Amino acid sequence: MDFKSKLNRTKIPEHIAIIMDGNGRWAKKQGYKRTFGHKNGAVAVEKTIEAAVEIGLKYITLYAFSTENWKRPQTEVNIIMSLLVQTIKKQTVKLSENNIKLEVIGDIKKLSKKVKLALNGIIDSTKNNTGLTLILALNYGSRQEIIEAVKSITEEVKSGKLETENINENIISEHLFTSEYPDPELLIRTSGEYRISNFLLWQIAYTELYFPNVLWPDFEKENLYEAIYNYQQRNRRFGNIG
Ligand code: FPP
Repeated sequence: MDFKSKLNRTKIPEHIAIIMDGNGRWAKKQGYKRTFGHKNGAVAVEKTIEAAVEIGLKYITLYAFSTENWKRPQTEVNIIMSLLVQTIKKQTVKLSENNIKLEVIGDIKKLSKKVKLALNGIIDSTKNNTGLTLILALNYGSRQEIIEAVKSITEEVKSGKLETENINENIISEHLFTSEYPDPELLIRTSGEYRISNFLLWQIAYTELYFPNVLWPDFEKENLYEAIYNYQQRNRRFGNIG
């Protein structure tokens, strides 16, 4: 089915978040090493970004590396990091040609110099772009993000900048890495797993969830359009009666 042509162009979500799962299984299924799956996962990232631009999405957040992913074998971590650098470098011109701004959420201090250098270079060179904002979640963990927010709010209360009774949802949101972005309307997790895995826990309070049974390297533009089409059929009530 051609989902792209069926989309209601007045109801495209502003922000979609994606947990790109299934690279390892995709490779194993074909008798290859897990890292082959990540390589093909990077290709799926490129296609997804193109699709996001084509339909005029404002924000896309990709869960590229979690705070828990350091537990993987060092060789696998290294491959993911070098794929990240390679993809960023390869896409530098394309990002700007397509008016895409690259941003990162997560604790990037812990990443290697090489990765930080590549990231900071492209963050800087794309900072004035006004189209899609591509947000990479790197060394990202939602609980850690919330801990950091609580610490900084506590400091503001201690210093008298903020009154305890004035702490509300907006104050918490403003202290998260995502303070500049709207909450995602749609979260996609590929591979048929039904978990959130410490991703955007605060931000997805009212997000629509979609779990396609496709491994990330097989994720095509049409899969993104199908997810949006599915989202557009839903009745979002936000606790109201609709
Ligand atoms: C999850 O699949 C995937 C990851 C933890 C890494 C995602 C990385 C990429 C797609 C490559 C580069 C990224 C960018 C942004 C260019 P998994 O390994 O957990 O798969 P499995 O559940 O089948 O083992």
